[in-house]
Amino acid sequence: MPGIVKIFSYKDIPGENQVGGIIPDEPFLADHEVHYQGQPVLLIVAENEDAAEEAIREIKIEIEPLPVITDPREAFKQGKLLSPSRKFVKGNVEVAFSKCKYIFEGSTESGGQEQLYLETQGAYAYPTEHDSVKIFSSTQGPTQVQRTAAMVLGVGMNKVEVDVPRLGGGFGGKEDQASAWGTMAAMAAWILKRPAKCIPHRMEDMRMTGKRNPYSSDYKIGLDENHNIIAYEATFYQNGGAAADLSPAILERTLFHATNSYNIPHVKVVAHSCKTNLPPNTAFRGFGGPQGMFVIEAAIDHAARSLNIAPDLIQRKNMMDNGDEFPYGQIVSESQAKSCWDEATDIYNLESVKKEVDWFNKQNQFYKKGWALMPVCFGISFTNTMMNQARALVHVYSDGTVGVSTGAVEMGQGVNSKMLQVAATCFGISPGKIKLESTNTTRVSNTSPSAASSTADLNGKALLNACNQIKERLVNFIKTELTDNEDKTVEIKDEVVYINDEASIFNWKNLVQQAFMKRINLSAKGHYATPYINFDKTIEKGHPFAYHVYGTALTITTVDCLRGTYKIDAVKVVHDFGSSMNRAVDLGQCEGGIVQGVGWMTMEEVVYNADGKLLSNALSTYKIPDIYSVPKEIEIKFLNTDGNDMAIFRSKAVGEPPLMYGIGAFFAIRNAVLAFNPTATIPYSAPITPEKVLMALYK
Ligand code: MTE
Ligand code: HPA
Ligand code: MOS
Repeated sequence: MPGIVKIFSYKDIPGENQVGGIIPDEPFLADHEVHYQGQPVLLIVAENEDAAEEAIREIKIEIEPLPVITDPREAFKQGKLLSPSRKFVKGNVEVAFSKCKYIFEGSTESGGQEQLYLETQGAYAYPTEHDSVKIFSSTQGPTQVQRTAAMVLGVGMNKVEVDVPRLGGGFGGKEDQASAWGTMAAMAAWILKRPAKCIPHRMEDMRMTGKRNPYSSDYKIGLDENHNIIAYEATFYQNGGAAADLSPAILERTLFHATNSYNIPHVKVVAHSCKTNLPPNTAFRGFGGPQGMFVIEAAIDHAARSLNIAPDLIQRKNMMDNGDEFPYGQIVSESQAKSCWDEATDIYNLESVKKEVDWFNKQNQFYKKGWALMPVCFGISFTNTMMNQARALVHVYSDGTVGVSTGAVEMGQGVNSKMLQVAATCFGISPGKIKLESTNTTRVSNTSPSAASSTADLNGKALLNACNQIKERLVNFIKTELTDNEDKTVEIKDEVVYINDEASIFNWKNLVQQAFMKRINLSAKGHYATPYINFDKTIEKGHPFAYHVYGTALTITTVDCLRGTYKIDAVKVVHDFGSSMNRAVDLGQCEGGIVQGVGWMTMEEVVYNADGKLLSNALSTYKIPDIYSVPKEIEIKFLNTDGNDMAIFRSKAVGEPPLMYGIGAFFAIRNAVLAFNPTATIPYSAPITPEKVLMALYK
């Protein structure tokens, strides 16, 4: 057909037909079977988009239907697992349950969530010298794109260069799943020796890419007569989709966060990664943590409702303390769980909120309010210890300007601002003198993806290491060459060199120039690997996290009991930012995370039909919070602490933890519905959409 350059099938792949990141179970192009609707089968290379679309219409593929499974429990029954099941155990639940005064059991569901980055997936590539290829990719994981493209092309990683300018959002969706798009562009460019671009439209992106893993879970919680939680058991059925992708790692984080901020002496949590015929599900802010936390919060709510007490009594009573042990063996230290909780209930005046809500509910027949408290304890580090490393490359140019490269990808989370701050602070110069380069695999290699909220910590510490090397050389140069006195103290502040606390005739610019003349090395490569962390999967114990981030949210909602609609009146938070190095960025992350979490719990509904076809495939059918549905009020208080030394400049990671405050919205809405209809049955099934609310109001 006119305009068609080439059509590739799996038979044309020069290397391996494989894009699986953790487990090699995902073909780049389908070979003999397709496992989900939206799986890539052919790669059409055309002169322009219209020609490619024409060709798609003319191609007929005959597919013999096989049974479709979309439900994780069904997949589990049939023994379809993506990876071995995992189990974390602390104490002895069997014995403990036999001694509990109260035991409650139930099930929960939490739905998928579309990352909905504003910039869709995509890449472009061109052939370069030495039979190589350069890919510009919208990815959180430049090295993952490089590795995948090299494997599919059958070349060494040194022949694939990946360059990443800032992204229009990732939210986990481009941690692993950018690889296929980058590889498509690379394969066309490398084989055809022409530049090639591959960017899906929004509907294609939504149809073809994986989302947050939906979970179906069972819980059993046991309490003594004083409402201490003695035992907790849960089984998680993760809907993984048709290939492992990141699901095994996500599964693990679900177990790490299965008990949230609570200290429970006897715990047994089991997780199964179930293989279904959906697009492979993947990372989304929180990475399985939110799915685990939702279940324990449901269990506590269940217990409180049944015992006719307020859930916050059970929550507060069982909150962790320093010295307690997480089910995975790490000892709780520097816990801010109780301090965040107590400060939130104090400054947001929980007692009067309770009274006001009761009063409102007495006054209004068809509007009801509800409130809920949501504590969060989130572990910082990749759960895979190996991934907690980073590098940075710094050049000080002879005119005093600075070029900084790290493995960090800017996707809106503000990491570039933080990297600028690190270099500027270390050198004592203005950020205006520093340029942050794009993230590039030939400048900084073997990067971990920008993920796990750890990007600023890992890359910031590597960058600090590189800057310190150069600074040390400059300081030594001054001491030995310029002042002839090694005992003097040298400091650079506001681009002025201070010798023995006195401003000298040297400034940053002429210092750099003189150092260059004397052949001092003005470049450095920094490396950082998080110390102390470890995890032994054979016994499921260790110290996987550098530190934890804590916080508590109070959520208040109003439900319109005629229509089933609701609004979120307020989300009020006390959050442990450590010693924030950039309050504007950190506040933005906190607000964004809250809104995204509220969206997941209330309105964002990923719907597939029985054949695994995505029905919520556009912004008309998939609703995310807009300006009308965001909380009317978001208040965020910075907990006053010194932060943690494992964090860059003691400024704690902030990317993911606030998302989980959104879980409070589910329970606040549920409580409002119960205020209208105390006998309503409202399953712990998120999102709690207006449709579900309406059904519950008038069962
Ligand atoms: N914020 C914006 N604006 N855009 C994003 O894509 N991704 C989130 C979070 N905040 C994201 C974001 C996710 S999933 C993670 S893991 C962190 O940012 C990653 O960045 P960090 O490690 O620098 O926090
Ligand atoms: N968090 C986020 N992304 C990841 C992780 C993690 O713990 N492990 C691998 N990718
Ligand atoms: Mo975030 S889900 O770790 O990219």
